[in-house]
Amino acid sequence: MLTEKFDAVDVIRHKRDKLELTGEEIDWMIDAYTRGVVGEEQMAAMAMAIFLNGMNRSEIARWTQAMINSGERMDFSSLTRNTADKHSTGGVGDKITLPLAPLVAAFDVAVPQLSGRGLGHTGGTLDKMESIPGWRANLSNQEILDILDGPGCVICAAGSGLAPADKKLYALRDITSTVDTIPLISSSIMSKKIAEGTDSLVLDVKVGSGAFMKDIDQARKLAQTMVALGTDHGVKTTALLTDMSTPLGLTVGNALEVRESIEVLEGGGPADIVELTVALAREMLTAAGKPDADVEEALKDGRAMDRWRQMIIAQGGDPDAELPVAKDQHQVIAERDGYLTRLDAISVGVASWRLGAGRARAGEDVQAVAGIELHAKPGDMVKKGQPLMTLHTATPERFERALQSLEGGYDIEDEAPAPRASVVLDRITAE
Ligand code: URA
Repeated sequence: MLTEKFDAVDVIRHKRDKLELTGEEIDWMIDAYTRGVVGEEQMAAMAMAIFLNGMNRSEIARWTQAMINSGERMDFSSLTRNTADKHSTGGVGDKITLPLAPLVAAFDVAVPQLSGRGLGHTGGTLDKMESIPGWRANLSNQEILDILDGPGCVICAAGSGLAPADKKLYALRDITSTVDTIPLISSSIMSKKIAEGTDSLVLDVKVGSGAFMKDIDQARKLAQTMVALGTDHGVKTTALLTDMSTPLGLTVGNALEVRESIEVLEGGGPADIVELTVALAREMLTAAGKPDADVEEALKDGRAMDRWRQMIIAQGGDPDAELPVAKDQHQVIAERDGYLTRLDAISVGVASWRLGAGRARAGEDVQAVAGIELHAKPGDMVKKGQPLMTLHTATPERFERALQSLEGGYDIEDEAPAPRASVVLDRITAE
């Protein structure tokens, strides 16, 4: 009979009692959890102990390595192009991956965007892409390599072989209120990104009400932890801290966000989306050895759009197909004249989720059509009776709960707010 090296109860007690876990304890805990020897209830207790007592840098590094070791690693070494990837910690209206991947690919850098589905109020990139008729998220490793060799960018589901310990642990954290803590977020994100095997990585770490990290100091600490993990594993890693106090762009919801992304690829689109897409593209291209690439021009002259169309076709989609539109819509009207001084990201995110754009449980279907169109952003002057936003859904009985989420979610005042200087708040590089 196989005897286990440790007893889960002892390892949990060590973390509960604020002791530093040894490397061997961590390796065993993750491996035994992946094998099903450590039970869900035991890992739940461990996650809560980590949430409450934290982990030091060497514990986080070992935990991340153990999660990488729980599965396979992708190998992009056969590609002739450098690979560059971006990961966002998740926000409301964050559709940046959609224009960004083809934009960077337009400069012959391969962009493997292995993405996830959304849970809770932040939308998932795959859910957005699946509103394009015919488009397929699940690809074999060979298909991924072929698309990276051709169009140069791919947005697809991360295979189940990549960091399987994280897949189990993330689902568990989601139902035990242990998601938003630096050791577990940083090891979760970086284990997947390192296992994916990209040459370089840019992290978009969100700050504000719609993000895991509500204040900039915590976001900076998360970014520094992830940049150090990536750098130690030989992945060129930098991070931008970006504002998530208000939604990005003018749409939240799956098909609505695809439509807005296409506007950006046509050379238009909202200023904050263009600003962040360009800033992240510059980071990725600099890391890939192309610091002088004129990314703004590639959005305007259609080169990024060409890559987008090629990528959609390669994944079975029709780039010319009409995107679905909700048959039921409801407008929220300004009740007075003034300036919109606040539009809270989390209120809009939850409202969109309640309209059907997101899921409450893993595996649920989402509505492609559900979401919110914003007609004003903070700083805009509005007139009494003017629509502030339009709610979209295929199930109108959802309007009431969505409207409840928007109550208190915005302010209209006499004085204009101080303009936001930039959506990018800070840049973090390896120490
Ligand atoms: N995204 C992840 O992949 N993991 C986390 O823990 C948080 C966000």
